[in-house]
Amino acid sequence: MTDRPITTDDNGAPAPSDEFSQSVGANGPLLLQDHYLIQKMAHFNRERVPERVVHAKGGGAYGTLQITEDISQFTKADLFQKGEETPLLLRFSTVAGELGSADTARDPRGFALKFYTDQGNYDIVGNNTPIFFIRDPQKFSDFIHTQKRRPDNHLHDHNAQWDFWTLSPESAHQVSFLMTDRGTPASWRNMHGFGSHTFLWYNASGEKFWVKYHFKTDQGVRNFTDGEAAAIQSQDPDFHIRDLYDAIKRGDHPSWTVNVQIMPFEDAADYRFNPFDLTKVWPHADYPEITIGRFTLNRNPENYFAEIEQAAFEPSAFVPGIGPSPDKMLQGRLFSYADTHRYRIGPNYLQLPVNQPKSLVNSYNFDGPMAFHQPSGPHYAPNSFGGPAADPALYEGESYALTGEIVRSAYRLHSEDDDYGQPRALWENVLSETDRANMVSNVVGHASKPEVTSDMKKRIVEYWTNVHKDLGDSVAKGLGVTD
Ligand code: NDP
Ligand code: HEM
Repeated sequence: MTDRPITTDDNGAPAPSDEFSQSVGANGPLLLQDHYLIQKMAHFNRERVPERVVHAKGGGAYGTLQITEDISQFTKADLFQKGEETPLLLRFSTVAGELGSADTARDPRGFALKFYTDQGNYDIVGNNTPIFFIRDPQKFSDFIHTQKRRPDNHLHDHNAQWDFWTLSPESAHQVSFLMTDRGTPASWRNMHGFGSHTFLWYNASGEKFWVKYHFKTDQGVRNFTDGEAAAIQSQDPDFHIRDLYDAIKRGDHPSWTVNVQIMPFEDAADYRFNPFDLTKVWPHADYPEITIGRFTLNRNPENYFAEIEQAAFEPSAFVPGIGPSPDKMLQGRLFSYADTHRYRIGPNYLQLPVNQPKSLVNSYNFDGPMAFHQPSGPHYAPNSFGGPAADPALYEGESYALTGEIVRSAYRLHSEDDDYGQPRALWENVLSETDRANMVSNVVGHASKPEVTSDMKKRIVEYWTNVHKDLGDSVAKGLGVTD
């Protein structure tokens, strides 16, 4: 007998052996009655949940949001009141790769925040880019199918990617970001995050505003060149997970300044760009960024599976004072995430410690697989027995009028809406000479995979020429397209 704790089975009964299965004689067959062996093998077979259908590879950490400015004139959300401190979880990810894929692949990065507020969880499930490839959720699964492996040969297909992008010119802004060195960030600590969508804020008097979130890295933006990213891919596929974990472990806590752009509710109708179109930013000259606070990551998870793999972020998790905008992509996402969590983790995913609100849950939903939170009082509403009752006053201010015919159509165009103007502004006004040169070589490298056909290369040149002639000419030169 040692002073070590005794191994048990999952029922807590002492385990019969750490080494030997029960057999008929030392050399004989094993027995089905060896419940301990059966439990171990059966549990092992169930150790995985399906990986996320996108954003499978990632890592994350806990932290705290601090609000330093009074923005009560814009939102009544508790967590955004001056002086508030809110615990949070942030998960970073790549989009296309599987659970074991390399962190430094060229891809947008997920930037998913869960705020454990006093009024329930508020999730901002953003990326490290302020825009996206498409503007209608109808195209999302098709787009992702071009990023993932082909169903026939299980290989990635750059020809399919360029086919989709060149047939979807609204992708040009996001593909521009992706093809700069921001498509290969040096670490998660060295990139910005964005809520990307436009959201609704409303204050205690019911005044409404449209808002965009910008999380600006306090560590400075740092990227890898394509060559550096590729070299690290082969040396350490988990480079970004390791970087974040090690930094927090040594007390080097990364932080982000929280900025917002605020648009008065009425401006949306006639703004020069459709403010709900996810392929567009709001130029700073029109709506400058305002700093409202900062968040810091200061604690690593203790169990990756329980706290990161089972973390479930959903853009539909709002709190009073914040709501969705009519951005069609956001509207699609309001359905998609909770649905995938019910499938991937199970219908009671919100009862797991990492997803569980830190505020009281008084829901009338109960039962189902793995349920342990059950209502203790009346189990239906309305009831006459003092059970919880909704308080619609908390949501006063969220409503606004809409009318329209039921249609299937593109967004109504605003005066300056087109697919190439904003990526052109990026190329002309924002990128340095080095950024531009690297962007060209990144495009050329990506479009030079053997499966990309010569017809597709011509379409790729046309796509970039629409952004800017110099860019198109340089890509044509790099790809050897002459006419
Ligand atoms: P501004 O000059 O006011 O802003 C340019 C923005 O680009 C800054 O936010 C800057 O912030 C960011 N930036 C700098 N270098 C890069 C880079 N290599 N890749 C991507 N972004 C970079 O101009 P506008 O607001 O008028 O926007 C002009 C263009 O800048 C837009 O069309 C868009 O492509 C891009 N942009 C705009 C943003 C916005 O919300 N308005 C946000 C990000 C990009 P930082 O250096 O801190 O990243
Ligand atoms: C993950 C769907 C657009 C950011 C996911 C997942 C699904 C999904 C099903 C897996 C979730 C999980 O298993 O936990 C969609 C649909 C979209 C869309 C249907 C459009 C219609 C976007 C956009 C952004 C985004 C525009 C960013 C602005 C993320 C992030 C994750 C994710 C960050 C990973 C969350 C985490 O870390 O767990 N998406 N997505 N997605 N998506 Fe989207």
